[in-house]
Amino acid sequence: MQRRILVTSALPNANGPIHLGHMLEQIQTDIWVRYQKSIGNKVIYVCADDTHGTATMLKAEAESTTPEELVEKVRQEHLQDSEKFLISFDNYFSTHSDENREFSELIFSRLDERGLIFKKKIKQLFDIDKQLFLADRFVVGDCPKCKSPGQYGDNCEVCGATYDATDLINPRSAISETKPILKESEHLFFDLPKYQSFLEQWTGSGTLQPQISNKLKEWLGSGLKAWDISRDAPYFGFQIPGTENKYFYVWMDAPIGYLASFENLCRQRDDIKFDDFWGRDTNAEVHHFIGKDIVNFHALFWPAMLDATGFRTPTKVHAHGFVTVNGTKMSKSRGTFILAKDYLKVLNPEYLRYYYATKLNGSVDDIDLNLEDFVQRINSDLIGKIVNIASRTASFITKNFNGGLADDVHDPTLLAQFKETGKEISNLYENREFNKAVREITGLADLANQYIAKHEPWKLAKNPDKSNQLHLVCSQAIEMFRILQIFLKPILPNSAAKAEEFLDTDPLLWADLDKPLFGKSIKPFKKLLDRIEIKTVMQLVTEPDQDGKSMLEENPSTTAPIGIEDFAKIDLRVAKIESAETVDGADKLLRLTLDVGNEKRTVFSGIKEAYKPEELEGRLTVLVYNLAPRKMKFGVSEGMVLAAGPGGENIFLLSPDSGATPGMIVS
Ligand code: 2FM
Ligand code: ZN
Repeated sequence: MQRRILVTSALPNANGPIHLGHMLEQIQTDIWVRYQKSIGNKVIYVCADDTHGTATMLKAEAESTTPEELVEKVRQEHLQDSEKFLISFDNYFSTHSDENREFSELIFSRLDERGLIFKKKIKQLFDIDKQLFLADRFVVGDCPKCKSPGQYGDNCEVCGATYDATDLINPRSAISETKPILKESEHLFFDLPKYQSFLEQWTGSGTLQPQISNKLKEWLGSGLKAWDISRDAPYFGFQIPGTENKYFYVWMDAPIGYLASFENLCRQRDDIKFDDFWGRDTNAEVHHFIGKDIVNFHALFWPAMLDATGFRTPTKVHAHGFVTVNGTKMSKSRGTFILAKDYLKVLNPEYLRYYYATKLNGSVDDIDLNLEDFVQRINSDLIGKIVNIASRTASFITKNFNGGLADDVHDPTLLAQFKETGKEISNLYENREFNKAVREITGLADLANQYIAKHEPWKLAKNPDKSNQLHLVCSQAIEMFRILQIFLKPILPNSAAKAEEFLDTDPLLWADLDKPLFGKSIKPFKKLLDRIEIKTVMQLVTEPDQDGKSMLEENPSTTAPIGIEDFAKIDLRVAKIESAETVDGADKLLRLTLDVGNEKRTVFSGIKEAYKPEELEGRLTVLVYNLAPRKMKFGVSEGMVLAAGPGGENIFLLSPDSGATPGMIVS
């Protein structure tokens, strides 16, 4: 049955440009959306800019413009960046819109009617010079705990303490540098504690990832507090009806932007109706993709607000981790705070889509953009394994068979394996385990390359008697390439479009797995993607920082150089993994039996979290052949296989290109 699914990414703030952290989220969402469309579901993907708040107001002032003009200019910039990363929004709207005002007022009035809004006077720091109340981020002072100077009003970056802005020692306004006073004002609160038991149930009902619902259990355990939803003028936002000078807090109207963006789209399209997705009784789904830092807004305040006002609650909230670059937090001073538009100046957006896909596993773990690994994955996996399948075989079809593919399948068992693996890949996409989906896909690409290496079409082409076999082998390779394009299309839509042109086929969908191209014609092959060079990638981070040092200079290689004579002491050999077994009592180890040509070796390798034993059997790798045997708790390890990556799930076994045979010396 066709599912109807509304999908959102978090709304980027209108007071700054979007960076590769935003892109992680939008790419994750977009891959999921494109996959859902490929399998035939009706999917709507909306987003918007999150425009309101003091920061926007001050930025507009600094740029001598109005907040309205600023937010429209920034919205256009954000949208352009996202589109260049091939993000397929159905609507990219704004929280500063009539639709959002209408929904914000409606939700507020319903909360009020239900007795869920109350007023209370509170004291806050006030900037006399600017005549405004200061949000936590606009107050700086000394940490009340460790006394470190220059800390913001919510937490200390030195000792990690959290506190109220009023606790800061020697507070000053970050805007005017003057000393703020304490001033009383009446605020409006949403009575969230009334939703305690609803939220206990909702957060534990499978709507959230286990790590998130456990975290929320802790917060719920210490009791919810009423939520302050108003801010005093001057404030860029919507005035609260029935008040003189109160505005909705930006975090109140931001998620309402999801409703507003969808409603705005409904006003443009006849095929979707607001209530079909947001009405209480709908069987449509709503999925929010967000960063792990804003879970409280999406999994506490938001479902409570929706439930209290007659709307349905989200089907799922999917949180992801932060992006780090080369293992550390993105940082402006280090030159690793990479803006979307700067990335686009040097690199193809599909590389980042692919790289993020290789890392995304559906959990809230942080994702490291390691630039060397990035180059490696693109060049050896994406280009070396996948794109090459077509480039190695298409020219024979074009030249020898006038573009026509054979009518028959050469190796039906292998082809059946491709289709069968599609079921697993489909599950992995559904569960946002894109890293595993990519691993399955590259595993199939390995099989396709082995098939080509085994049948050696370049040799068949030299023998006129083997013309039929050449035709069959190359046609099957093209068919396997086509299937891989179906699997990869959610990640690499542009490359898939080029492949469709080459295959002379309609846009590929998952259902086309059952529609092979045998007997049809293809067009001459054109490159889908180019290899990349590390020096190009390094341009992303080599902007000098304040000390004038580039990131490369700050992170020199950690080992001293060695001469060729030292390197020559290491005897590396190609080994075939004959069998791989788990080891009783060892969490990380697999026992590998290796065929190294004329002998067998047993090696214990710490790759268990990254590979299923059966995935490894038959695979070629590289063995440090002359490493002295090491006695381990579980037996003797006779050498070491080479792998790259930081550890855990992220370990990647090195493999020679197909064609290498066990025992070959690696040099
Ligand atoms: O954290 C942020 O960048 C917010 N602008 C996200 C808002 S998401 C939704 F609630 F609008
Ligand atoms: Zn401190």
